[in-house]
Amino acid sequence: MRLIQKVGEWFDLRLQLGTPIRETAEHPVPRETASWFYVFGSAALTCFMLQIVTGILLALIYVPSAGEAWNSLQTLNHGIALGWFIRALHGWGSNFMVAIVLIHMVQVFLFGAYKFPRELTWIVGVLLLLVTLGMAFTGQIMRFDQDAYWGLGIGASIASRVPVIGPWAVNLMLGGPIIAGATLSRFFALHVFVIPGLLIAFVGLHLLMVLKLGINEWPMPGRIVRRATYMQEYRELTHKEGIPFVPSAVWKDILFSGFILLAIAACAVYFGPFGPSGQPDPTIIQTAPRPDFFFLWLYALLSFLPPSAETPILLIAPAIGLIVLLALPFFAGEGEKSWKRRPIAVLTVLLIAVALGTMTHLGEHTPWSPVMDAWSSEPIPQQYIHGRTALERQGALVFQAKQCHNCHSLDNRGGKRGPALDAVALQLTKDQLIRQVIQGGGNMPAYGKNLSPAETSALVAFLETLHPANQKPARNASQVDALGASEVSPR
Ligand code: HEC
Repeated sequence: MRLIQKVGEWFDLRLQLGTPIRETAEHPVPRETASWFYVFGSAALTCFMLQIVTGILLALIYVPSAGEAWNSLQTLNHGIALGWFIRALHGWGSNFMVAIVLIHMVQVFLFGAYKFPRELTWIVGVLLLLVTLGMAFTGQIMRFDQDAYWGLGIGASIASRVPVIGPWAVNLMLGGPIIAGATLSRFFALHVFVIPGLLIAFVGLHLLMVLKLGINEWPMPGRIVRRATYMQEYRELTHKEGIPFVPSAVWKDILFSGFILLAIAACAVYFGPFGPSGQPDPTIIQTAPRPDFFFLWLYALLSFLPPSAETPILLIAPAIGLIVLLALPFFAGEGEKSWKRRPIAVLTVLLIAVALGTMTHLGEHTPWSPVMDAWSSEPIPQQYIHGRTALERQGALVFQAKQCHNCHSLDNRGGKRGPALDAVALQLTKDQLIRQVIQGGGNMPAYGKNLSPAETSALVAFLETLHPANQKPARNASQVDALGASEVSPR
């Protein structure tokens, strides 16, 4: 015992760390902040530490080369005891970390903790969010499977839209004009050296400021932050009714972090590791490459935007979002902290949550991608065939056999990549239908070479029957003139 104490004293005399550590542990925090609402920051840190440990373990086996990466993941999944579990922990840890960082941010925002004097803590926090997302994106590339390959392709195409420096940025990102071996090496360097280095530096700075400035007090409606008096008020608050951080406040953090670790482990065991999906092969064009969960909303947004709006929205919206986040403490640095008196703040959070939630949901269901088996699994509804001529029925067969159903729905069944065709004859004349089928256009393939003239006329005859029974199909203007001249112009 005495020996240990001696050794401890020897080190402390030289390191001088004993006093600062004790002061940090025992520094008083406002009584009400020992609350379950204040556990997300430390939980994010716990996730990060889990990522470091599991990441190092993975790096022992993982081979960061385009030819070997996929195989080394197979080895991890199947060849090494518990390799799959480490991969699953790392993958789920990443998802949890992104989610907890976001929750932490929302809590800090709603509790007004970004106000004076913690503006810089918030700004570093925003940077932490960015590097966390950077880790998530580069991590997805490490799998170097089909999804990673196409995710990267989409990322590159977004980057290439930046005016002037776009092509150069893509070249830098991919290590050449195409996704190749150099690309993976670059992303590996980013994922294990550059971004974690930034992350550790920012986390250190963030924590230092949290300790120096003290934990945000519980926001009381009506307790206003003023630059002139805040520091004094906070000191009085913590000294009069403060409690020491250790042990009074810290046990909730520890308990919650433990719970999160258990939840990650449970997900890892139950759902297993992510991928790898198929080997990357540029000749296989997946119709629906899917990004990881937290980028799904972006994917949905991309799919719904009209092509002309894509570039401005993709480039300008994130920049504006970032500027608003960074500038927030400067235009709202004082005043009311409690969310009960900040309805606009609460509404903003709700609005963003609903928008992101909806987008994510849409991204999961991708109604715009073709339903590849609709042509064989969805028969043409009976009412579209009943009482039709032989030619029209023949056309229905062509419609089924040429897989139009994969992209077009009839009676709400079938794909939704193209418009529903239930009433197409109201909008398009026979000539327009022929042109659409033969030439395609928009996102529709041209069928000219794949249809014989007989098939085309049968198909179009069928399409012309697609209108509600009580409305007349479209005809071209000259036909209307010839047939209905007496009705239209009695002159
Ligand atoms: C890969 C998906 C896809 C397939 C397969 C497909 N289409 Fe289309 N189709 C579309 C899209 C997308 C549009 C909308 C084009 C546009 O925006 O200009 C469209 C438009 C049309 C239109 C015009 C609809 C309107 O309201 O303007 C018709 C008619 C049509 N398709 C018929 C067919 C027929 C017949 C077939 C089978 C021979 C077929 N399509 C196969 C995707 C597809």
